[in-house]
Amino acid sequence: MLSREDNELLTRTGPGTPMGNLMRRYWIPALFSNQLAEPDGAPVRVKLLGEKLVAFRDTEGRVGLLDERCPHRTASLFFGRNEECGLRCVYHGWKFDVEGNCVDLPSEPWDKDFKRKIKITAYPCIERGGLVWAYMGPPELKPDFPDLEWTLVPDANRYVTRHVQECNWLQALEGGFDTSHLTFLHRGDEGNADGVRMSLPNRYEVLPMDFGFAAGTCREQGEKNFWTCSIMLMPFHKLISTSPIGAHVWVPVDDENTMNYCIEYWPDKPLSRDDLADSEEAFFIHPQMIPGTDRPIANRDNEYLIDRTLQKSGTSYTGIKGIGRQDCSVQESMGPISDRTIEHLGMSDSVIIKMRRLLLKTVQDVAEGATPPGLNAAAYRVRSSRFTVPATVSFEDAVDEFVRVKDPVPAQ
Ligand code: FES
Ligand SMILES: [Fe+2]
Repeated sequence: MLSREDNELLTRTGPGTPMGNLMRRYWIPALFSNQLAEPDGAPVRVKLLGEKLVAFRDTEGRVGLLDERCPHRTASLFFGRNEECGLRCVYHGWKFDVEGNCVDLPSEPWDKDFKRKIKITAYPCIERGGLVWAYMGPPELKPDFPDLEWTLVPDANRYVTRHVQECNWLQALEGGFDTSHLTFLHRGDEGNADGVRMSLPNRYEVLPMDFGFAAGTCREQGEKNFWTCSIMLMPFHKLISTSPIGAHVWVPVDDENTMNYCIEYWPDKPLSRDDLADSEEAFFIHPQMIPGTDRPIANRDNEYLIDRTLQKSGTSYTGIKGIGRQDCSVQESMGPISDRTIEHLGMSDSVIIKMRRLLLKTVQDVAEGATPPGLNAAAYRVRSSRFTVPATVSFEDAVDEFVRVKDPVPAQ
């Protein structure tokens, strides 16, 4: 369990909150590049970490991400005219460029100085891996874009979807690192042979690393230890040890909604039809979507299409089809922000407990001026891994050898 204060500290990400300040030190996925398909096209509403923003691609192809509210009288720039290298508010014609400068102020032609004084909040953007990423932190602390492998590979090697999860980001992150649920929640699912086969692990480790942390679960096999190592990249990424390689990014939309980006990729070859067959059936991590929205077809309003007959039949533990859908159902069922003061955690929750401690320490250290982990771009050159080592070798001693990528895709 967590104290009410610690739960607040970890879950609140709005402007000025300690966790929000920490997240704003990193590049954050904002939307797909193809949502801004062409210069001077329609602006798109984006909500990140509780901030209402509007994205647009200007005449030169540059992406801007501005506060949605016009600084004149707060009308929404979503209705704006995207023209001649700027977004113009339709209420009284004020116009802003991608850097947030006011470049035209036709309603005050007599005051030449006024325009100079007006600025709108604008976050720098960069396009990588088919997404627009924003940096929302202090300008002088902006890091290089991280060497995140799935953003570096050719487009044909990568498949990315996204959907909104109707709960706080930490429920999604904790769900991603909750090791013991594989044996239960996902049992019987075709995408999860491991869940059927595997016993509960004997040991759990979480190690702070230069990129975030490495979470290891150990099954002892005589003289040898079999480790499954998941990677958490600060502040909200997971790398999954599947083939093709899987990844998640859990971006807070606000404190009660999370944009879950789901990625599959090969470092060195295009994805094949077979690779994606499971995805199309929604057995793995990509849900089937209500067209034109970020909402899955199976959602809490229809109880995730749970089939009680299937649940009783013994072929599916949940009666809910698809791993991602199963995860959503339980994570959202905890409420918009789970009340961690009433939990009862056991041995099998060690990863969750250690991960929370590490996150709390990082938030507190950074609030006191420390530099957060993972700002060095090269630190992200890692993959999840499964490995077997002699029982005499500790997780800590083995992990570097198995998670660091030896043949990184060159950074752009
Ligand atoms: S509210 Fe935008 S120009 Fe007046
Ligand atoms: Fe899961």
